[in-house]
Amino acid sequence: MEKPPVKVVVFDAYGTLFNINSLDQVLHHYFGDRASELSALWRRKQLEYTWLYTLMGSYKPFSEVTMDALVNSCNSLELTLNNEIRDELYQEYLQLEAYPEVRSIVESLSEKAALGVLSNANQQMLQGAIDRNNLGSFFTKVLSVEKIMLFKPRKEVYQMACDAFQVLPKEILFVSSNTWDAVGASSFGLKVAWLNRFGGVMEELGFQPDYVLDEMQQLLEVMNK
Ligand code: LAC
Repeated sequence: MEKPPVKVVVFDAYGTLFNINSLDQVLHHYFGDRASELSALWRRKQLEYTWLYTLMGSYKPFSEVTMDALVNSCNSLELTLNNEIRDELYQEYLQLEAYPEVRSIVESLSEKAALGVLSNANQQMLQGAIDRNNLGSFFTKVLSVEKIMLFKPRKEVYQMACDAFQVLPKEILFVSSNTWDAVGASSFGLKVAWLNRFGGVMEELGFQPDYVLDEMQQLLEVMNK
């Protein structure tokens, strides 16, 4: 059966549009050579907490989960985190830079399809990152899980994209650099491009992305097929 054409491209936010490593400089300022260890543990804990909240049937805004994960990570690594450092890191997180290629590619894609963002981030946090990078004009829908208080990879999250754009799952191309997010979207039924920014290995979770990209530029080729 002919695959339906892609009508909408929906992006994950952190690690896909916004560079989570753009905090590394400030982390290095406060934590020296422990910074990269802390950065990796912080991201892992942030995601772990979202999965645990959803498994427990509870919810907390991603901005708060992010800071709770930082506190836990610093405790685990026996690093001192005072309120001043914590507040500065929080403000930095709200202003993450987009990867350098994002604007031009998103601009080109916006001429071919409707664009959206689908993220665990709460609306204020997500909109702040989009506004800081002047990307708001390209996205028709900016979707936060805050509305349903369930985190990815719950099916209800990906369903939000279908509902917002009023399209079928296979009419959406979902783009994420996070393997587990790409798997979640695939298992729901979206068409998926895994943007393998970090040289990772796809999970063994029974679902594979439709496209594996080494760089975001390749999205333009996918959309021209
Ligand atoms: C998000 C995280 C998971 O933006 O990257 O949803």
